[in-house]
Amino acid sequence: MDVHQALRTRRSIRAFKPDVVDDGLLRQVLDGAREAPSWSNTQPYLVALATGARLAAVRAEMLAAIDSGAPAPEHGFPADYPPPLKERRQATGYGLYGALGIDKRDLEGRLAHFRRNYAFFDAPAVMFLYVHEALGAWAVLDCGAFLQSILLQATELGLGTCAQATAGAFPAVVARHFAVPERYRLMCGVSLGYAADEPVNRYRPAHASVDELVIAGR
Ligand SMILES: Cc1cc2nc3c(=O)[nH]c(=O)nc-3n(C[C@H](O)[C@H](O)[C@H](O)COP(=O)(O)O)c2cc1C
Repeated sequence: MDVHQALRTRRSIRAFKPDVVDDGLLRQVLDGAREAPSWSNTQPYLVALATGARLAAVRAEMLAAIDSGAPAPEHGFPADYPPPLKERRQATGYGLYGALGIDKRDLEGRLAHFRRNYAFFDAPAVMFLYVHEALGAWAVLDCGAFLQSILLQATELGLGTCAQATAGAFPAVVARHFAVPERYRLMCGVSLGYAADEPVNRYRPAHASVDELVIAGR
């Protein structure tokens, strides 16, 4: 698989088979991702890899947390979606609910799907990504490059993935299970595993065209 193929093949996976992913394969994903570029090569990110019993405990605590309170991410979730971001977000959300067979007026159904985020869609592995607070936005940018490297390397290795901001919604839960060094802040997570043969995984949201992405000259 070449890079272009990996870019085209990768789509967010929101239903996983229960099959365990070999530790060696998960390490291979990170071995590819560690080649990502970063500010002055500081590599201002760390990964907490949860599988097996530890992931089961994190999952149970995350579900309990969302059932009893509002998310408290270290990097606040956006509240403002001006055009064209709002339209893209809405179209993607409606497309996803359509693929799930959930009517857009079915609030309960939508909430039930939203809750599935906190079970990591039953993925057998989750990588929690942390960034060093000292580098501010630059660390977040570097983490983005690292994140995409994880997603593409996983794609090449036959693994499905879903980047999840929701995995960063309750940092205290994750910190109970990992010795997170000082000044590292939870950014997001990546659920990984083998994609289940479910309609939700066949949903391919629109990605803007090159013309839409390029700013016109004056
Ligand atoms: C930083 C980041 C956070 C995301 N958080 C979530 C999430 O919490 N739940 C979810 O289902 N998808 C999440 N996604 C996946 C996006 O919704 C998805 O990438 C987008 O709709 C485009 O679809 P595609 O990945 O299939 O191309 C996230 C993606 C990124 C990059």
